[in-house]
Formats: sequence, structure tokens, C-alpha cells
Amino acid sequence: MDKSGAAAVDYRGLGKDVFEFFTHRTAFNSAAYLLPTIESMKKENPRLRLLDVGAGVGSVSATLAEVLGPDGHVVCTDLAPSVLPQAQALAESRGVTNISFQTADVHALPFEDGEFDIVHCHQLFGHIRDPVAALREMLRVTKPGGVMAAREGDKETEIIWPPLPGVLKWHEFDSNVAKAHGGTLTAGRQLLAWALEGGAKRDQITVSYGTWLTSEEATKAVYARGISKVLTGPTRQNALKFGLSEEDIDEICRDTLAWADREDATWLMLQTEIIIRK
Ligand SMILES: C[S@@+](CC[C@H](N)C(=O)[O-])C[C@H]1O[C@@H](n2cnc3c(N)ncnc32)[C@H](O)[C@@H]1O
Repeated sequence: MDKSGAAAVDYRGLGKDVFEFFTHRTAFNSAAYLLPTIESMKKENPRLRLLDVGAGVGSVSATLAEVLGPDGHVVCTDLAPSVLPQAQALAESRGVTNISFQTADVHALPFEDGEFDIVHCHQLFGHIRDPVAALREMLRVTKPGGVMAAREGDKETEIIWPPLPGVLKWHEFDSNVAKAHGGTLTAGRQLLAWALEGGAKRDQITVSYGTWLTSEEATKAVYARGISKVLTGPTRQNALKFGLSEEDIDEICRDTLAWADREDATWLMLQTEIIIRK
């Protein structure tokens, strides 16, 4: 954890299955609310510059670069330097070239005021201690006339069926880890309040709500394999440190994989999305 209380995810040594789990996100399933705005801004200015903050493995950033088109450019950033080579490799493997990579803390972005037309983050504010300061900083680097956009889940709205004990145990463990790192489980419902506290006026903000849904067979399998690899791979020691026993880990892995095999299995969560016009 750095001195601002931010927790960078340590992606080092995570295996292929965990990587697959993170890279499942794209601009189409995770930033769809922003795409019409990008399309209309692109008509005015095809040379849009977009900053993605807390971008992780950069799978959303890479598809945003594709949406911007060859004249636009994405700067993909994260606090964790260890993830950026993975993000770069992912973009290269998809033939995306209008993207660059840089380490950056959302609390002190290494960019000038108004440097970007679009400043975006996905699932970041729920993981940091001071979302209002982060939001102010993101607004600072947004160009007048540009937009800042964020999408945050609300973990307390998670709905899981069937409620297998190991699956519920994972939900509790994941929430405890987020809280221990200073995160907020109700980020989704607080996002609009944070935006107002960060200085945006209500009439500058468009709010929409979506869901994060895992019910398709392929998505469930990726998700379940990712969870079991997070717990059994190099991060197993962290899981033990956060209070899980060896038996808990076995139960979570067994039940999560069993859950993914069931036709009636569903896992969903409310997502709040905001676009602030500066
Ligand atoms: C849940 S992940 C989301 C990654 C990506 N946006 C996505 O949706 O796939 C949160 C990311 O925020 C990064 N992060 C945490 N604190 C940060 C900070 N202070 N500044 C920038 N990034 C940060 C973590 O390293 C992690 O990659």
C-alpha cells in the first residue's frame, strides 16, 4: 500500500487462467454507456486523446483504442508497474498500436491540466481510500469541453444463485480484502455523491445504471477458473493471511467450479456509470 492508502494489485506471477479472468472485460461489456459519447465526440475531432486510469491488464483500454480509431490515442495507466508489460502484450496481440503505457497514481496524475478529451476509469474508486480526491484529479486533467467517465460496482447488491456455501464464502472473502485495503463495498451507490463532492455540478453529470452479469456458460467458466487460480496460485498465501483456512480454499474452489457447471447459475451486481461534461 502506498502512503495515500492506495492498494495496487500485484499481478506478478499470476497464471494464464487469472489473466484470462481479467481480460474478459472489454469496452463493449464494461464501458458501453460511454461509447455513444465517444462516437459523437469523434465526429467533431477524430484525434481524441483518452486517459484510462487504474487500467489493470488494459483489456478495456485496448478496446477503447479500437473505438477511437487510428487517429485517436489511449494512455493506459496503473499504479502497479508490474501489470503494464501485460497490458502492452495484450494490446500487441490484438494489433492495437494507438496506445501507450505509463505508471500513474490517480491521486497525483503525471499530466498537465486539461491534457485529455476523455478521462476514464473502471472499477477503481471502490478500491481506493479517497475517491473524491481521485475524481478531482481526473477532472483536473480533463480538457474543458471534454468528459470524465467512471463505472463502479456495488458489491452489496450482489445476487448469487444457487447460494452454494463456498461461493458465498468467496463473496465474503473478496469483500473483506477490499475493505482491508480501504475500499468501499457501496461504491456504485456513492458514485454520484462523490462526483458532486469532487466539484461537478449536477447538470454536468449523466448517470446510468447497468448490471454486471455472469450467467453464460463461457463467462461462468472463466470466472470460476479465475477464482480458483487466485486462491491456489502464487496468491494463496495472501488468502491464508486474510483468514481463509486450507479447507475454506478447497470449499470455495470446489463450489465455484460446481456453480459454473450449473445451467441455473447466475451472479449479478449493480453498476453505476457517470459521465461528467467539463
Ligand atoms: C479492479 S482493478 C480494475 C482494472 C481495470 N480498470 C478493469 O476494469 O479491468 C483496479 C486497478 O486499480 C489499480 N489501482 C489501485 N490503486 C490505484 C491508484 N491509486 N492509482 C491508479 N491505479 C490504482 C490496481 O492496481 C488495479 O489494477
